[in-house]
Amino acid sequence: MEILVKSSAETQQLGRTLGQLLQPGDVLVVSGELGAGKTTFVQGIAAGMGIEAQVTSPTFTIIHEYQGDEYPLYHIDAYRLEGAAEIDELGLEDYFYGDGVTAVEWAEKIEGQLPPDYLYVKLEKMPAHPDHRRIRIGEEGSGTYAGLIEELRQVCRC
Ligand SMILES: Nc1ncnc2c1ncn2[C@@H]1O[C@H](COP(=O)(O)OP(=O)(O)OP(=O)(O)O)[C@@H](O)[C@H]1O
Ligand SMILES: [Mg+2]
Repeated sequence: MEILVKSSAETQQLGRTLGQLLQPGDVLVVSGELGAGKTTFVQGIAAGMGIEAQVTSPTFTIIHEYQGDEYPLYHIDAYRLEGAAEIDELGLEDYFYGDGVTAVEWAEKIEGQLPPDYLYVKLEKMPAHPDHRRIRIGEEGSGTYAGLIEELRQVCRC
């Protein structure tokens, strides 16, 4: 599905709607260039999961954990990861196959480590409108997220 939003508030609102639908074990890859709005979208997801803490871009901490109403959100920002040893140290499988929702920014850095099935959210800047974004949501893998995407489509009528 594809949505055009006109402000960071709208990006957060879409994230919040999705956050309300996510289940433990769900993995999301949030991509887009620097400043595209990945963290902004994850802030919305957190709100949708009942998290009141401010979600920020971790500076040196790669993984941030937040307690939601029902289950945790693991926010991974892999931007500063360098090398296989550092990646191994994170124990990513514990998150991906754990009891929470995992959202990953800069998943390019952990290529090959992602689970086979995940939901993707791709944010794209619009050159003519600094506050507009094209957001594409879909899935990779064998259909695990088809139901979720359909639900989202119905809820946001897009
Ligand atoms: N429609 C929009 N959606 C999201 N962010 C927007 C939008 N319009 C403007 N912005 C601004 O763009 C910036 C996006 O920052 P954000 O930290 O979310 O990006 P990011 O993709 O996580 O960047 P990074 O690659 O550094 O992690 C914010 O300053 C936000 O206010
Ligand atoms: Mg970010």
